[in-house]
Amino acid sequence: MSQDKVLSVKNLAINFKTDNGILKAVRDISFDLNRGETLCIVGESGSGKSVTSKAIMGILANNAIIESGTIMYRGENLLEVSEDQFYKIRGHKIGMIFQDPLSSLNPIVRIGKQITEAMLLNSDKLKLMYDDLISDDLIRYKNTVAKMNIEISNEKKKLEEFIAVTGAQEGLTKAQRAANKKLIAEKKQAFKVFEEETKKKYQSKAKELKAVLEETEKKAKKQVDEYKEKVTAEHKAKLAELNQKLAKAADKAGKDAVKKEIEDEKLNFTNKLKLTKAEAKRRALEIMKEVGIPEPERRFKQYPFEFSGGMRQRIVIAIALTASPEILICDEPTTALDVTIQAQILELINKIKAERNLSCIFITHDLGVVANMADRVAVMYAGKIVEHGTADEIFYDPKHPYTWALLSSIPDVDSTEKLEAIPGTPPNMIYPPKGDAFADRSKYAMNIDFREQPPMFKVSNTHYAATWLLDPHAPKVEMPKIVSERIRISLEEDKNE
Ligand SMILES: Nc1ncnc2c1ncn2[C@@H]1O[C@H](COP(=O)(O)OP(=O)(O)OP(=O)(O)O)[C@@H](O)[C@H]1O
Ligand SMILES: [Mg+2]
Repeated sequence: MSQDKVLSVKNLAINFKTDNGILKAVRDISFDLNRGETLCIVGESGSGKSVTSKAIMGILANNAIIESGTIMYRGENLLEVSEDQFYKIRGHKIGMIFQDPLSSLNPIVRIGKQITEAMLLNSDKLKLMYDDLISDDLIRYKNTVAKMNIEISNEKKKLEEFIAVTGAQEGLTKAQRAANKKLIAEKKQAFKVFEEETKKKYQSKAKELKAVLEETEKKAKKQVDEYKEKVTAEHKAKLAELNQKLAKAADKAGKDAVKKEIEDEKLNFTNKLKLTKAEAKRRALEIMKEVGIPEPERRFKQYPFEFSGGMRQRIVIAIALTASPEILICDEPTTALDVTIQAQILELINKIKAERNLSCIFITHDLGVVANMADRVAVMYAGKIVEHGTADEIFYDPKHPYTWALLSSIPDVDSTEKLEAIPGTPPNMIYPPKGDAFADRSKYAMNIDFREQPPMFKVSNTHYAATWLLDPHAPKVEMPKIVSERIRISLEEDKNE
């Protein structure tokens, strides 16, 4: 089944400048988020989960360097959009919920104001109507242009690498240097040809789409103008009618009643063109109800410190929802909460996700949480995705020794079986290991694991794992007993349900 992708991360690599050197936090990861699904990113502390989500949100720390990659959303590479554009996307189309709800709330501003503030930022309804009308055609056009630019910039990167390597060779004879120079000139020429041809390849399509877009923009503008004229005319007619009624009113009570009607009509008219404070409040109260906050009217006026941890997290979720996001990123939203509250918040996120058909990236180090949330799972270790697949594939047919280790370390609720901690510690990411970064901690490591990065081996159309154990030449290795035993038990439980 071909899936509708809402977000696509390709070859993303992020480094940090630190006093001790360059830290490689995210090392060439790729994944897609499909519409309406929850993708869980799971991995130990420091594996690069938060850095990945911050890159999507555009809130990386100042010392971050994006070494490579693209994050495509609606035809835009989020790593390249202007600040201006990003404001429209961040917190609007893509919402985020962090681990610690206190840090994302302003302690000295009443909850109600914090919820409505976000809504009032986008209060021009005519503008929203226009944006909505042109959105599909705009994305189609931008997607095409972005594709072209990415193809060209990838080729350019290859060229630059080639020049850097070839140009930097020392101890060459004059003849060799001349030969290299010639090679570089040839490559440059080849790039020019590629650039021109790629542009040609996309130009007619882009032109066509641009023409369609311009046509749609014209129509949209007309439609919005007509709508505005229509509601304004209706409003004027209504006011004239009410003014006559007012003149005819016999006594004070009658006049007051008509005056009230006039006020209502004015408010009604304003509401059609922009989001008023009153309407924002009404919506905020509705969303507070939606996220399970009792007595929203009273709570609306309170400050964050008057809320419990679980309630605060509900408020943060409410704020994220006010902009009707398409994607919700949850970075360990329940780790600061106790177990019962955690379960309630997870249930709430699942409910909202289903009702609003949100696409969700859910980050956690807890596979128990993954089991409750995920449609698909990406397992991260030392800045890489080492395995990804559907939740069933990851839980019932895991292939990477690191996934096995994670599965063996889930504490059992209903047995006294001891938790098997993963031995050792993750590598220092300033000097990431050459081969499989987990080799040092894995009893299944082979020689090659210490020398060479394993590629992503395909297990099924939806399941991939980067471990040399999947190489056809590798010895056959069974996953640890504790994992297979758990899978057997849970499969039996499923059958008995
Ligand atoms: N601003 C920064 N400067 C230097 N290193 C950083 C910075 N931010 C993150 N890192 C490093 O990047 C790596 C990945 O960090 P990240 O926060 O993504 O981990 P995580 O998977 O979210 O872990 P946790 O489960 O603890 O939240 C870590 O080694 C971390 O120390
Ligand atoms: Mg984190």
